[in-house]
Amino acid sequence: MNDIKPIEWIENHHARTIEQSEAVEDVFPDGIFEQTRRFHRQIPGHQMSPLKSLPHLAAMFGLGNIWVKDESVRLNLSSFKVLGGSFAIYRFIKAKLGLVGDISFSELMSPEIQAKIKDIIFTTATDGNHGRGVAWSASKLGCKSIIYVHKDTSQARIKAIENNGAEVRVVNGNYDDAVRQANVDAQKNGWQVISDTSWEGYTDIPKWVMQGYTSMLSETQEQLVAQGFIKPTHVFVQAGVGALAASTIGFYHKLFGKEQPISVVVEPSEAACLFKSAKIGDGQPHNVTGDLNTIMAGLACGDPSPIAWKILWDCADVFVSCPDYVAAKGMRVYAVPRQGDPFIVSGESGAATLGALFFIMEYEGAAPLKELLKLGPDSEVLLINSEGNTDPEHFRRIVWDGMDAVPAGYRWIVP
Ligand SMILES: Cc1ncc(COP(=O)(O)O)c(C=O)c1O
Repeated sequence: MNDIKPIEWIENHHARTIEQSEAVEDVFPDGIFEQTRRFHRQIPGHQMSPLKSLPHLAAMFGLGNIWVKDESVRLNLSSFKVLGGSFAIYRFIKAKLGLVGDISFSELMSPEIQAKIKDIIFTTATDGNHGRGVAWSASKLGCKSIIYVHKDTSQARIKAIENNGAEVRVVNGNYDDAVRQANVDAQKNGWQVISDTSWEGYTDIPKWVMQGYTSMLSETQEQLVAQGFIKPTHVFVQAGVGALAASTIGFYHKLFGKEQPISVVVEPSEAACLFKSAKIGDGQPHNVTGDLNTIMAGLACGDPSPIAWKILWDCADVFVSCPDYVAAKGMRVYAVPRQGDPFIVSGESGAATLGALFFIMEYEGAAPLKELLKLGPDSEVLLINSEGNTDPEHFRRIVWDGMDAVPAGYRWIVP
């Protein structure tokens, strides 16, 4: 038996004690889901991303179904991230110019508004995808952007940001160092930070980013209801700073209160700051430091976003951490599906949740977690494929060459 644990988990006992989370109400006031949806719908080229299902894999696991919200095709940017950056920039411009009500994309392009916004320089730190979304949104509105990445960011990710009109600056440190540097330079130069993570005194913009993500969840609900389902029974969501996870779980809490789906937050073992915060269990966010060395580039964050953490503390049922080979397995399972299931392109961060679900369902050592989560034939499990092939060279190493293979020696329930 292999002694490396592919899954570690912490149950958050605080979560189910909360009827209606104030943290959720603070980030998601009434009417916000409709507002973000209206905004994204009128962006030129916008389409709903598909909700796919993997019935044959679900049958193999003994689950009702596995639903995958496939963000690999969002606005041709290969991830959900642009939903947050675009909505935050929109809200920032509205606030700056004192505009009220819905403003359309074409109104933002009017000469009168353009004259007022053309000199704004937007900046942010990124693991890749958020910066790409901010760069895309800024360039669509005729503005400049300067994007900060950390030293281990791949050339492919840097190129993808530059291709959207941004200047990219590389910081000699990890993701959290890039966040700090972007902030210092912005203050010095009068640039506007559009960060997906929050800190003391900087919460409006990260809230708008999180609100932006909910368009994806409103779409999911519309797609599920059209197929006769009221909601998923389970939601698995991957986390870096926790904004995506808090948006997803907060969205379902706002809609269904204590009847929300059972929720699981998945992080890489090397950057499991939310898992660590849940383990300490004092209700406060705690960071992890070091190189944050993981193939799950989008999840390589050591500092939780405080506003996201508050929601997760109130509403997330279980925190899971897993090594890189779990995500790599998820990528291969998506890429080589069971007969009859659709093929899905999923990058390292995108596939972490399917990898985790795989180990929970089939690895003997995770049986108590499977039981805790009540996963079985009535389960309708929602996963978010949060990115597609965002780093092609690395994608091939994993999917074609078998990099980050599962170590031999596991006892599988279903051989
Ligand atoms: C593809 C992908 N998935 C998930 C995440 C995690 O989002 P968050 O940092 O809000 O937890 C990111 C963050 O960059 C990402 O790029």
